[in-house]
Amino acid sequence: MASNPDPKPNPMLASPNRMKLGVFGLNVDCGCAITTAPERLRGDDWAGNLEVAKIADRAGFEALIPVGRWRGFGGKSNFNGICFETYTWAAGIGALTDQIAVVTTSHVPTVHPLVAAKQAATVDHISGGRFGLNIICGWFGPEMRMFGGSMMEHGTRYDYADEWIAVAQKAWTEPSYFDFKGKFFNVERGFAQPKPLNKPVLVNAGGSPRGQRYCAQHCDVAFLIMNQASDETMRQQVQSYRNLARNQFSRDIKVWCYSYVVQRDSLKEAQDYLDYYVNQYGDDEACDNIVKELGIQTGIFSPEQAEQFRFHFKAGWAGVPLVGTPQMIVEQFERYSQIGLDGICLSWLDYRTGITDFVAGVLPLMEQAGLREPYRPA
Ligand SMILES: Cc1cc2nc3c(=O)[nH]c(=O)nc-3n(C[C@H](O)[C@H](O)[C@H](O)COP(=O)(O)O)c2cc1C
Repeated sequence: MASNPDPKPNPMLASPNRMKLGVFGLNVDCGCAITTAPERLRGDDWAGNLEVAKIADRAGFEALIPVGRWRGFGGKSNFNGICFETYTWAAGIGALTDQIAVVTTSHVPTVHPLVAAKQAATVDHISGGRFGLNIICGWFGPEMRMFGGSMMEHGTRYDYADEWIAVAQKAWTEPSYFDFKGKFFNVERGFAQPKPLNKPVLVNAGGSPRGQRYCAQHCDVAFLIMNQASDETMRQQVQSYRNLARNQFSRDIKVWCYSYVVQRDSLKEAQDYLDYYVNQYGDDEACDNIVKELGIQTGIFSPEQAEQFRFHFKAGWAGVPLVGTPQMIVEQFERYSQIGLDGICLSWLDYRTGITDFVAGVLPLMEQAGLREPYRPA
């Protein structure tokens, strides 16, 4: 007997909400905040992960997107060093939630596409068709060198990822045996059953022209680090992704970004809290290590630009700030919706308290503002 012949569509694509919501980085130590503040997220707290995932699920959030990480960035916090592996994490979360999309974040050089495709199909069955895959090519040298001693040159990484996804797509769709012969993969009489219940939602966060092209060609959701110079730069950034997908590949893609949230009863309290965990407890050494790696490996930031983003990096991996009272945060959501974003993945210093306050204080105001429809769990 087939296990779930009639799955609901994946909410990342099917949700009618004007501003979709996700939780980002729940599986890694510190989440997105590069700090040693004691209430930071712990990367080995499964019970805590599950609690936050269930709160997000019952509140109608659309996605849980983990960070793909294999080692930390040093400093006092060894930022992200302790972390859960994302396919197995998604399987556990998928089994214990009802409606939210469960995404894995996968460095393609670390896993054969047939293994990944099988894991993806398994998580999709466990979750009833809620699987998504965030495709990462790898940019952190020491991390990638854990898997074979070298890191591919930037363009080659994406050539490899092109073939990787072609093999995975065959595994997800070919009804019987299939062959694949490319530069990197050679599959003889490949076979993969069961197929996923829903077509896996593909996500990518490439920032370079090659990365953007990859995303536009293959993926359903672009997951951006925003150029926050002005609203106009952000609008252009979002639009250029959509245009690339539409004009070059006749595809429509959704565009999401990510944010750090500091919600308090007054702006002053929120700013004081930011100062506390970013300036007083921020881990500058870990931050420097990340900025250096990003600058050297991807060229998306010059060292000078990266310095300007330093505060944002420590506050929440250079996401867009959602800081202030619930009303102020909703106004920011409206602004990002006007810019053209479909969704934002949230992070906090303390995820459990943060999401609890968010659901109680911000979500009802988002509904009143027409950004989201009220959600009642079945
Ligand atoms: C929102 C977002 C999430 C990302 N998540 C991860 C991750 O979990 N693990 C990782 O190694 N890289 C991650 N990256 C890095 C990207 O995959 C990509 O390598 C980076 O943005 C540089 O782009 P490029 O590869 O086009 O040069 C993320 C980037 C962004 C913007």
